[in-house]
Amino acid sequence: MGEEPNRAKHVAIIMDGNGRWAKKRGLPRAMGHQRGVEAVRKLVRSVEPMGLDCLTLYAFSSENWKRSEDEVDGLMNLMRKFIKSDLPEFISNDVRLKIIGNWQSLAPDIVEMLEDAIEQTSKGSRMLAVALNYGSQQEIARAAAKAAAIGEVTEATIAAHLDTADMPPLDLLIRTSGEVRLSNFLLWQSAYAEMLFVDTLWPDFTPEILQAALDDFAMRERRFGGR
Ligand code: FPP
Repeated sequence: MGEEPNRAKHVAIIMDGNGRWAKKRGLPRAMGHQRGVEAVRKLVRSVEPMGLDCLTLYAFSSENWKRSEDEVDGLMNLMRKFIKSDLPEFISNDVRLKIIGNWQSLAPDIVEMLEDAIEQTSKGSRMLAVALNYGSQQEIARAAAKAAAIGEVTEATIAAHLDTADMPPLDLLIRTSGEVRLSNFLLWQSAYAEMLFVDTLWPDFTPEILQAALDDFAMRERRFGGR
């Protein structure tokens, strides 16, 4: 058999439900986020075997700053730990790290750590894109401003200035925890993406669930507005 004709190459995930996962167990929210990182780690390991070119994860939105200082600090520390501990694995697994969003305004040590990780993984062929301090409307506005600066505002010039310009088109967008909304994530990029909303809380999400979603995607016919 040849290559699956409708194989998803780029999947993006809104990882939701860490807080509820912890609450259900009488644990602090931070524990939910910690288990959320475990789910991320397992998924990143499955990118290659699943034949994905790109996995994009919504880790911190531009609205997440409204959470308590404790929770924001906790999430930033998880990010530091994750990059530090998993960078060698990214390198050996051919993963190329990319960050989307307004990440340059994060704490200087995180920016430095991310720049270093991006540099060290630049030869990788499977992209892991992490959305940090990301807001899709802000991204589109930035891209439109750049397009205006070159004097040509078209769909193509806006797309070429989005943070995702060097990424494959988005095939499938998944949100966990039963919420059915996009929360300012990849609005432009979702124009023709398939969407899947699952009830699973993020820490319980597994590579098997993603594989089932990919199998289902491969069965579907996508029309892109045509017939
Ligand atoms: C949503 O759960 C999740 C987040 C706001 C953060 C996602 C972050 C992680 C999975 C860990 C950090 C990621 C990396 C890549 C190191 P929620 O807190 O909104 O859950 P709730 O809606 O049940 O309260």
